[in-house]
Amino acid sequence: MGQAGRILIVDHKSRIRQETAAVLRGLDFNVEEADSGDQARVLLKKASYQLILAEVSLLTGGGVEFLLGQDAILSSTVVVLMASASSVDDVAAVMRAGATDFIQRPYGIDELCLRLEKALKVRFYEHELTYLRGERNIIYRFENFIGESPAIKEVFALLNKVSNSNASILISGETGTGKELVAGAIHYSSPRAAKGFIKVNCAALHDNLLESELFGHEKGAYTGASRQRIGRFEQADRGTLFLDEIGDMSIGTQAKLLRVLQEKEFERLGGDKTIKVDARIISASNKDLAKIIREDNFREDLFYRINVINVHLPPLRERREDIPLLAVSFIRKFAADLKKNTATLHPDAARFLKQHHWPGNVRELQNCIERAVLMNEGSEIVTEDLLFMRGLCQDGGDGEMSPVFEIPPQGLKLDEMERSLIIETLEACNWVQKDAAVMLGISKRVMNYKVKQLGLANSRWLKNK
Ligand SMILES: Nc1ncnc2c1ncn2[C@@H]1O[C@H](COP(=O)(O)OP(=O)(O)OP(=O)(O)O)[C@@H](O)[C@H]1O
Ligand SMILES: [Mg+2]
Repeated sequence: MGQAGRILIVDHKSRIRQETAAVLRGLDFNVEEADSGDQARVLLKKASYQLILAEVSLLTGGGVEFLLGQDAILSSTVVVLMASASSVDDVAAVMRAGATDFIQRPYGIDELCLRLEKALKVRFYEHELTYLRGERNIIYRFENFIGESPAIKEVFALLNKVSNSNASILISGETGTGKELVAGAIHYSSPRAAKGFIKVNCAALHDNLLESELFGHEKGAYTGASRQRIGRFEQADRGTLFLDEIGDMSIGTQAKLLRVLQEKEFERLGGDKTIKVDARIISASNKDLAKIIREDNFREDLFYRINVINVHLPPLRERREDIPLLAVSFIRKFAADLKKNTATLHPDAARFLKQHHWPGNVRELQNCIERAVLMNEGSEIVTEDLLFMRGLCQDGGDGEMSPVFEIPPQGLKLDEMERSLIIETLEACNWVQKDAAVMLGISKRVMNYKVKQLGLANSRWLKNK
């Protein structure tokens, strides 16, 4: 199997057990022996095994629940039974409880090795499959992170240096600046890429639930804990744990997290078995953690632990030169998804996009382009395709407003402005009043009223009557 692991043999027949153990040790396995279910129980509390080879009679009556009733053991350990022809019923019961295979006594040692190898292989591929199904790692690539502005180049240079290390990274930045994308890209370009990239949203769960999510719990740890649960920390072993929105974690949970980060071990809630983990921590927050620390809502010691390296993703309005690049890449993506011919961005439209304040950053830009591509009928996105953005909120996170219009020095007349705005929008919408109303954020009734009030007419409306 390539990489040999730990095997536990549970058998009261000491001669056969010792012989089997010797053979398996010869194959480079790390083998331990137990002569009873009780002894196996003791060993299993201390360590985990890749494979358990057990005489079936030692598992029935209390032993089965212990060995196979635990998700943790089941998900990471293969159980192979040894049985005599007379114990068929017991074998059936234990197989139903989750054992992988059984081998009938007497057996030759070659046959045993073959069976064990096969059982390990099956489990290996099961894991592989779960991994491949679960991970959409293609999206988390540095190649997908678009940007050539000096600010982004600086971020890249830093990421290049730190991806391969185990250092904890804190990614800060406003909403939609790409924190999750960067966290995933760091993981998948690190030596931990073959293991899990496990995400936890600290804002979505509170206190007890978040702790059980992070550390797992034993059955009955609290009301409602009807099954044992493996926490995210354990799942992230040898991989990366991404703690998203860490600024929203309660002070109590912060204390527990700090302990785990310092000692690299923990217990599941309601459990006393110490679990060791090796998980790289990447955290993210769109809040100003220094401010939360000053307000006594974030532990400073935890901050230093998670912030060994700080990666700050600047807001889009501070790297406006990236806007057309991002826009074109999103146009290509959505055109392919929506089967459209749109491929380019008119320079005027690019200028228009560069002026926007982008409070929602790259995510907002992505959404706007999706909408524009959807409406577009040609091969190029033009300013008209983007006019709906005028109805969007222009208020930035820092309260600054980006001007929608340049007010001329001599001033302007509001009713004239309204008239030309409505006409311009109607033109952009092929004079479909309903669509223009949506763009201007008013009801169809109000639009109709304005059209009448302004005495607007269009041949299309006559045709439809
Ligand atoms: N530089 C970039 N190049 C390409 N796509 C990007 C870039 N930055 C962000 N995106 C895309 O923008 C969207 C938002 O990014 P992401 O979810 O990583 O942001 P975030 O910072 O985690 O936001 P939030 O704080 O709201 O969770 C994603 O679809 C992501 O793929
Ligand atoms: Mg995010």
